[in-house]
Amino acid sequence: TKIALITGGYTGEAEVSFKSSAFVYSQLDHDKYDIYQITITQDAWFYVSDSGIKCPINKEDFTLLLNDSILKFDLAFIMVHGSPGEDGRLQSYFDLVGMPYTSCDALTSALTMNKGYTKAILADIEHINLAKSVLLFDTQRAEGVSLVEEKLSLPYFVKPNAGGSSIGMTKVKVAEELQAAIDKAFDAENTGSQVIIEEFVHGREFSEGIYRNIDGELIVLPATEVKTTREFFDFEAKYIPGLTEEITPADLNEEQQSRIAKILKEIYVRLNCKGMVRIDFFLENDTDKFYFIEINTIPGQTPQSFIPQQVRATGMTEQEFYGTLIEVALK
Ligand code: DAL
Ligand code: MG
Repeated sequence: TKIALITGGYTGEAEVSFKSSAFVYSQLDHDKYDIYQITITQDAWFYVSDSGIKCPINKEDFTLLLNDSILKFDLAFIMVHGSPGEDGRLQSYFDLVGMPYTSCDALTSALTMNKGYTKAILADIEHINLAKSVLLFDTQRAEGVSLVEEKLSLPYFVKPNAGGSSIGMTKVKVAEELQAAIDKAFDAENTGSQVIIEEFVHGREFSEGIYRNIDGELIVLPATEVKTTREFFDFEAKYIPGLTEEITPADLNEEQQSRIAKILKEIYVRLNCKGMVRIDFFLENDTDKFYFIEINTIPGQTPQSFIPQQVRATGMTEQEFYGTLIEVALK
């Protein structure tokens, strides 16, 4: 089986994609799969051969001219965070060229990349609570501050609505900082033309993976609790080891675990997810209510990322887990 492991991307998350794909590459079973890392940048889509030669992908059919023969892949293992790998663009392209892939389909990817629209779809699911939020379009930059202040109370989280890894994100604690935070979020590279501003939820922060196994059953991984010493779980907290305490499996009682598992399965089904996804949420202090924050359809697979921690906590190896994702996608 020939696998194209797709990495790179057009956003600030490209460097995370490189780490994720390198880790996946190192864990996959190379006796079973022929794996080719394909890098996608705005300038070129290419494979670097063993002898260091940059071979371009033929975009017409996603084939590779390698050693005078044309190589065709059986599957794309998409490891591009952000656009164009997590927002449905590559998925649409692979649909057009007729190649299966490991992630959610184009529609689900496009929808879930948009944090505001995803919340609208999930709003009526029982036991899912949503932080109050305002979604701004780029035509509303000037009136943004007043729209936010009418509806929300400080502190706020300001994010590019189609971003990831906390790039372009600010926690705003005083009103004077809001406009700059909105501008920063609008200016993040290739993250769409909307900004979402959310009210802070006072509670414990978690992240938890879910996927379908080869028998089609939904498997919920153990949750990770995130305790950062920084203002919030920002880019540095995510990728510099030691800045954040990550507890896997999280200290949750049985009732909490089964309640969360049920909610995650409902989200996965409602959004018609495929492959592995990871859902970030809070349990509110005092009420213990579940607050949905967002869903990541190409969740990070760096050695620091949550899913690898959660997979190891089940006793499974990453090789088994990534192998399952491949087999499910090929089925
Ligand atoms: N967006 C990053 C890669 C994550 O969700 O893990
Ligand atoms: Mg994210």
